[in-house]
Amino acid sequence: MRLALVLAVLSAVSWASRCTPGRSTTPPLPSTDAFYDVPANISSYAPGDIIKYRPPPNPIAAFGVDVVNVAATWQIQYRTTDNLGGATATVLTVLIPSNADLTKILSYQIAEDAPNINCAPSYVLQLGAYPNGANGTISSEEELLLVEAALYEGWVVVLPDHEGPWGAYLANRLAGQATLDGIRAARQSTAFTGIASAAKAGLWGYSGGALATAWAAVLQPSYAPDLTGVLVGAAFGGTVPNLYNTIETVNGTAQAGLIVAGVVGLAAQYSDIKNGLEAHVLPAYRAGFEAVATSQCLGVTIDDYSDADVLDMVDDTSLWTNTVTTDVFNNNSLQYAPKAPAGVPLFVYKAVQDEVSPVTDTDDLVAAWCSAGASVEYVRDATASHSTLAVTGAPMALAWLISLAEGTVTAGACSTTTKESMLLDEASLEVVPSFLIDAITALLTGSVGT
Ligand SMILES: *[C@@H]1O[C@H](CO)[C@@H](O)[C@H](O)[C@H]1NC(C)=O
Ligand SMILES: *[C@@H]1O[C@H](CO)[C@@H](O)[C@H](O)[C@H]1NC(C)=O
Ligand SMILES: *[C@@H]1O[C@H](CO)[C@@H](O)[C@H](O)[C@H]1NC(C)=O
Ligand SMILES: *[C@@H]1O[C@H](CO)[C@@H](O)[C@H](O)[C@H]1NC(C)=O
Repeated sequence: MRLALVLAVLSAVSWASRCTPGRSTTPPLPSTDAFYDVPANISSYAPGDIIKYRPPPNPIAAFGVDVVNVAATWQIQYRTTDNLGGATATVLTVLIPSNADLTKILSYQIAEDAPNINCAPSYVLQLGAYPNGANGTISSEEELLLVEAALYEGWVVVLPDHEGPWGAYLANRLAGQATLDGIRAARQSTAFTGIASAAKAGLWGYSGGALATAWAAVLQPSYAPDLTGVLVGAAFGGTVPNLYNTIETVNGTAQAGLIVAGVVGLAAQYSDIKNGLEAHVLPAYRAGFEAVATSQCLGVTIDDYSDADVLDMVDDTSLWTNTVTTDVFNNNSLQYAPKAPAGVPLFVYKAVQDEVSPVTDTDDLVAAWCSAGASVEYVRDATASHSTLAVTGAPMALAWLISLAEGTVTAGACSTTTKESMLLDEASLEVVPSFLIDAITALLTGSVGT
């Protein structure tokens, strides 16, 4: 969707009055900002410990121009754990609305989908960052609409940079652990944020954000047992249960750039993948793969590789199916996760015609989790695509999160329903803020001028 349209929608319908900044400087890139540096003594910190904090250099703003009206914002650097068990650190953005209930946290996982620290949500969502959308961050910024809806509910919203300090996209254990440690850090930040140390937390994310969200739910009992009873539930959509199936599905399609972003992201965590790419990517494509890691974000990568046969950009296609690569893909695929998330209710939504990850993978995942004791409300949407369900599925997911926050959703039997469109769920439309529905309707009908 076009930037001008989205901007018009956001400014026309938002609940919050917005400040018009006089001027905006560009905040320092994370790659050059010492705040992001992992301290040498990182192993001396426990997971979730706060290392340092500050107000963000610039206010949080949609599209680098449209400032979100909140009572306070913070960036917290905190200790987390990478895919291989190593101590590392990442950054949490904390948004406190003016009507905050400081006992309720929503951890919202943005679908950054870029293996580049300079695409991290803590950076991209600041005023003056990539103001013209030229660097491919539009989809992250669109997600601020959903964040604003959550702020409207009075929840404290935290946004973890769940790819860690090297942009390890698809290193999904890191993503889940960074999400859990972000909640720990938020609950330890009372002295400066006011967040209650006993606050409870829900999770929400779509697509790349669903990976972080679902992995957090899967790993919580083993990685963060102290969050049992604190983590109350998780909503995620556009879920990607099997990495290889996704790569095969998107190769040669409009979404083929996800393959490049994904394997370059895995290379940031796994030296075997890094070495494999260095040895086998054809010379003509090397600079392009490098740029994905250093100088562009998701939207540019999607444009660059639209309809490309990415799997043939190597001199030996067994690179994608050899045992080393397969182990890494499987180790980061929810389908092979050690345990089903048990104990907390889950809301899972998926487009039947999802063009990124086949719906059958999610059908199978939900079925397996349910037979292992998980509590899943699974909603399939018959008309949406992967891209559109991010928006049209949001009101129903938010309505579920509102019920969760009110304590009226409890773990119980699994259910599966297929709806013509999640957007037409009347019960949801009654409880979510009207500005969200107005914005979505305007986006879908193009009724706001461009
Ligand atoms: C890590 O090192 C910094 C700088 O020397 C020091 O201020 C901090 O207390 C250390 N943290 C831990 C947990 O040891
Ligand atoms: C995946 O990686 C984790 C962390 O290194 C390890 O504990 C686990 O055994 C691996 N699982 C599989 C199935 O390879
Ligand atoms: C990748 O996509 C291209 C174009 O659709 C196709 O020709 C090629 O066979 C695909 N490769 C694999 C391994 O699926
Ligand atoms: C952003 O995009 C511009 C224009 O393509 C490019 O020159 C610049 O290097 C990019 N900046 C970053 C930090 O990726």
